[in-house]
Formats: sequence, structure tokens, C-alpha cells
Amino acid sequence: MVIAGTFPNILLNETSVGFDREEKQQELGQFFTPECIANFMASLFRAQWRELNLLDAGAGTGALSAALIQRICSARHKPKRISVTAYEVDSSVIEKLRETLDECGRACERVGIPYSATVLNQDFIEAAIPMLRRDLFSSQSPVFNAAIANPPYRKIRSDSNSRLLLRSAGIETSNLYTAFLALITRLLAPDAELVAITPRSFCNGPYFKPFRVDFIQTMALQRLHVFNSRSAAFSKDKVLQENIILHATKTAVKPQDLVVSSSSGEAESEIKERSVAYSDVISPKDLNQFIHLISDESHVPARSVMNSLSASLKDLGLSVSTGRVVDFRAKSSLRQQPEKGTAPLIYPCHFNGGFVHWPKEKCRKPNAIVSDEQTKSLLVPTGIYVLVKRFTSKEERRRVVACIFDPTKIPGPLVGFENHLNYFHLEGRGLAMSLAKGLAAFLNSSVLDNYFRQFNGHTQVNATDLRSLNYPTRAQLERIGSKVNVGADQQTLDEHVQKELNG
Ligand SMILES: C[S@@+](CC[C@H](N)C(=O)[O-])C[C@H]1O[C@@H](n2cnc3c(N)ncnc32)[C@H](O)[C@@H]1O
Repeated sequence: MVIAGTFPNILLNETSVGFDREEKQQELGQFFTPECIANFMASLFRAQWRELNLLDAGAGTGALSAALIQRICSARHKPKRISVTAYEVDSSVIEKLRETLDECGRACERVGIPYSATVLNQDFIEAAIPMLRRDLFSSQSPVFNAAIANPPYRKIRSDSNSRLLLRSAGIETSNLYTAFLALITRLLAPDAELVAITPRSFCNGPYFKPFRVDFIQTMALQRLHVFNSRSAAFSKDKVLQENIILHATKTAVKPQDLVVSSSSGEAESEIKERSVAYSDVISPKDLNQFIHLISDESHVPARSVMNSLSASLKDLGLSVSTGRVVDFRAKSSLRQQPEKGTAPLIYPCHFNGGFVHWPKEKCRKPNAIVSDEQTKSLLVPTGIYVLVKRFTSKEERRRVVACIFDPTKIPGPLVGFENHLNYFHLEGRGLAMSLAKGLAAFLNSSVLDNYFRQFNGHTQVNATDLRSLNYPTRAQLERIGSKVNVGADQQTLDEHVQKELNG
């Protein structure tokens, strides 16, 4: 591990200037990059361009282009010409953007680099799609040999014009930031470089799979930087996000190793760097193409233990699903306390010491759901289930929090698991207690949690994430379950899990 310097302050700040402005900023996913981050991003480019044709999509006030051009102007090697193309949809920042790029022009002039800037007050998606179509029918290859971006972060509605346009170009994605990255990569020339700061959410998760697979195929990652603290910048979505900076080259040739660095997000935080095998970051065998951010030395043992496990969920005969009861959709069927004709309804608030404690007296969530024809499909037959929270709070020590639903303690033939839970089951039914105990203990272990954090940067634990894990064999899980109580303190639980898994 190398300590490679410090960040003065890495958090992305919303420039708050009144309510209307704030609303507009949210609508546009507008968060300007602080200078120190822009400079760090600019420092990641490696090429010594003969001519630089830079794309800045979602340019804001031009902080990113300015950082790169400033760096080039003070470097020993200077390109013969610089041209910048900046897209920005918000007319109210265009003047400032022009000023920044004019200033860049003056800086280039001072060091003798011919310079041109094109500012386009346009929607980047609407502008890029026709360009891609033209490329498809012309022999001319794309012109940009570098792109720098802090793309807007916002969901794209499935019926919006942007979504239809993207679909027409074969891009299936539901967030603006991945749409921008997908378009940028298509507009880049072979071997061009991209540096971008984005939420970490695309590194795993089912929604981003088409984007991720496409991006990883087209681009070779060269460097990843992880911000360990969850920035306010991306908290608009309910899922708190961690941010990453990525540096990638448009080539099919992947490097042997890449540098993964991290910093905490606090002012003056250290940047820790390590070199990691490309195949450890993205396993060629992984159909989901998760991106593992092994930014800390302490992550390495967890990764090797998890990789050594030989069973898949399928080998164990198990499946994992998301709780079927979406409470706001079943509102009229919910009851605060159990009554005749209801089934237990289980929420994360019922987790207590490794087992479900139900009903909960003082609970904001309902304890029961009417069991009738209308709710039949939402309920499962009672049995022993291992439950995992789908969302953990920032304060929670572990990302993966598991607990056992024991039907001997909770009456009734049916049970409802709310949508904020995932549940492990055996073809829709419960599992044996010996297996459930071992599975819950394994899921609650630090080794699993350390591994999980390498590919999951937010507080959401998807069923897909749990499906993608390697598991101990049934015999190993049963041995773990027989030796340790799921509700044991972390150290005791870890000792038993480690003893079994390390052989
Ligand atoms: C996260 S901000 C980053 C701004 C600037 N690149 C920076 O780093 O400071 C994203 C920018 O994209 C702009 N934007 C949002 N949607 C856009 C679109 N469809 N086309 C072009 N720009 C867009 C926003 O107005 C905002 O200025």
C-alpha cells in the first residue's frame, strides 16, 4: 500500500443559491466539481497528445476542461493544437462556461498552443445520437481522443424522449450518468482516454448490468479511485452513494494490473494506492461483470477466502428472493397488530439478536397483513427462512445483516416478508434449521462483509448480489451452525466462521 498524497477536500458541493436554483440543480443533476478534484482528475490522463480533441459533456461552468488545459499548459510536452467541445443544457451557466473556456484560450496562447473551443447549449443525448448514427454510415471515425466528465446523476423516466433516443442507439440504461458514459465511449476514437467521476452504483447491481458489460468490453480500466465517505452530492436518490473516479482507455487490450486508490472524503484525507490484478477487479468468469474495488490491504484476505469457497447457492439447493409485500401497494391489507384472519408481516425492524422477534409492540411498521385471496400471492408458507436486510443504515457496522425466521416462535401457516428484505428459501419453502443457522452466521461474518463492500458501494443489498456470492458447502455451513449462535458477538462469530473456512 502506498500513501500517494492528500486531497484538500473531496466532497462535491452543491452550490446552494436559493430554492428555485436548487430545484433546477436537482432536475439537471447539477453538482460542480471542486477544483482539487478536477485537478486530480486531470492528473490521471497519460497520453502526450499530438493534437487534443477534448469532449466535455455536461460541462457546467467548465471546471474539468479548465483543469486539464491548465495542466497541459504547464507540462513539458505540449500538443500542436487543442480543441474543446463542451455540451451544457443549462443556459444560465453558458456565459460562465464561455468565460472559463476563453480563459483557457488565453492560457494556451501564452504558451503558444493553437486553441479552439465550441460551446454547445444543447442536450448532450439529443446531440450525440444523430452523431452516432452518422458515424455508422460514414467511414470517418470519431474525433475525440479524450473526454473528461462529471455527468449528471438522475433517473431517466422509461417513457421519456431521452430513453427512446438512447434505445434507438442500442443503449439500455435508466440513469443519466450511465447514459452519458455510454455515449461518450461511443464518441471516442480508438485508444482515447476517459476520466470521469460518477456514483459507484454501476459497479454492481442488476439494473446497470447492460451498461457495465458494454462499458467493460469497450474500455480498459486503468485506474479507479474510491471515495469512502458517502457524499451529499448523490444523496438525492434514496440510496446513499459512494463516488468513484475512473480512468479508462478505449481499447480491447486490458492491462495486467490497475491502480485502485482510496481516500476517506474528509479534508486532508490520505490517498492510499495499491496495484491490483485486472482479473481481481473484474473476473473474466463473472457473468455479471461486477467491478471489485479492492482499495484496502485488509480486503485481500477476505477476497481469497471468498474465492476459495466452492458452493453456489444453486449447489446448496437454495434461492434468494426479495420480499413480495410492497407495503404502500398493500396498504388496505396491513394491520398494526395481528388479529383473526391475518398473517405475520416481517420488516427489518423485527430483527433482533439473530432471530425475528414478532410482534413488535412499539413499532411504526404494521405487524400483520390480512390473509385472503387478494394477498395470497404475497405470502409464503411458514418455515425456517434466512432473512437479509436490503437497506442498512449508515451507522450499521455491517452491510449484510442476516437473521432467522423461526416458525416455532411465530404462529400461522403463512408469512409475509416485506420488500425491504431478501429471503433465502428452498423452492419457495423453508430450510432446515441446521443449514439456516450456518447460513445466517456466514452472512453475518466480517469476511463476507469485507468482500461484499468491494463490489457494493451503496447501502442496498440486492438479491442478485447475494446470488453472485460463493458459499461454503452444506456440510461446512451445518458445522458452523452447530458451533456458533447467530446472535453471538462479532468476534466469536468471526472466529468460528474463519476456523471452518480456513480449514
Ligand atoms: C454533475 S454536473 C457537472 C458539471 C461540470 N462538468 C463540473 O464537473 O463541474 C452535470 C452538468 O450536466 C448538465 N446537464 C444535465 N443534463 C444534461 C444534458 N441532457 N445535456 C447536457 N448537459 C446536461 C447539468 O446542467 C450540469 O451542469
